[in-house]
Amino acid sequence: MNKITAAITAVGGYVPETKLTNADLEKMVETNDEWIRTRTGISERRILNEPGKATSDLGAPAIQNLLKKRGIEASEIDCIICATVTPDMFFPATANLIAHKVGATNAFGFDLSAACSGFLYAVTTGASFIESGRYNKVIVVGADKMSSIVDYTDRNTCVLFGDAAAAILLEPDTDGYGIQDSILKCDGIGADYLYMRAGGSLKPSSVETVLAKEHYIFQEGKTVFKFAVKGMADVSAELLERNNLTGEDIAWLVPHQANLRIIDATADRMGLTKEKVMINIQKYGNTTAATIPLCLWEWENQLKKGDKIVLAAFGGGFTWGATLVKWAY
Ligand code: UT7
Repeated sequence: MNKITAAITAVGGYVPETKLTNADLEKMVETNDEWIRTRTGISERRILNEPGKATSDLGAPAIQNLLKKRGIEASEIDCIICATVTPDMFFPATANLIAHKVGATNAFGFDLSAACSGFLYAVTTGASFIESGRYNKVIVVGADKMSSIVDYTDRNTCVLFGDAAAAILLEPDTDGYGIQDSILKCDGIGADYLYMRAGGSLKPSSVETVLAKEHYIFQEGKTVFKFAVKGMADVSAELLERNNLTGEDIAWLVPHQANLRIIDATADRMGLTKEKVMINIQKYGNTTAATIPLCLWEWENQLKKGDKIVLAAFGGGFTWGATLVKWAY
């Protein structure tokens, strides 16, 4: 029997309706549209601002969209892996809440925390479940309500992030389509440069931590930028090399959308022209675990069976990685 690979057989996405534009931010902090666009590539982002709505309310409609397109019932799902750094609560897992919301009554689920690389870590994990022969339908959803941890008085971070979710379905394939290879990395040196100071077991929430604004994202942008440019480009080049591929063999690069300049550097290093790079950062900003599947969702109609696609990310941790996919439909 042929080896089982994990094919991506459907994609779904969801973005909230409310837009937060650069013009809106100009009224909130000392910034301007020109700075934001030239330094990051972002023009607007989506915000989930309905009271009582959380990350699971982004993930659930993304999965419902996927199920409808694939024509299957939620009860057929074996497993939901939710990549997120903005879980609804510390526990239970957001995957668990999403499973309940979509009616995935036969699924188990768990959250995976790897910041902006979360989707790649989760895809690699989900693919292993399929390749083992143990499961037939694994959903990987990247979902983040970044607005819940952004300080909208801090211009260094508030212009960067947005809210969204997108999901893929992994199913077994015996013709070699799907996830081909992944290189994943992490380095705890990054903990000082991109993190949330309080709320964990190191510094539990207290009146003091709230007053000191320690429950928001802190990022030393310049340092993260340097690591990101090198990390994302190096790992993407390494992935091509170990699979005996060049940029010419690649139909699409699907990069994490944190900064247009980081994306350009990665594409250059891989020898890819701009037409082969999925970029939607201008519309959604950095949606953390959702950026890569959100691109797949938007570009789905342009993908062809057999296309070789590289997914690449760099994020908090530091975490980074690249995944090679052979598109299955
Ligand atoms: O997705 C997870 C991984 N994260 C990333 O990959 C993000 C990596 N970092 C970046 O993308 C960039 O570092 C940023 C976009 C965050 C910042 O761009 P930068 O070119 O590195 O700017 P900077 O932080 O060095 O700031 C340059 C100047 C500073 O002013 P001074 O000190 O030169 O007077 C900042 O205070 O720009 C100022 N600045 C702003 N000005 C207007 C910072 N934020 C803003 C702002 N509007 N929103």
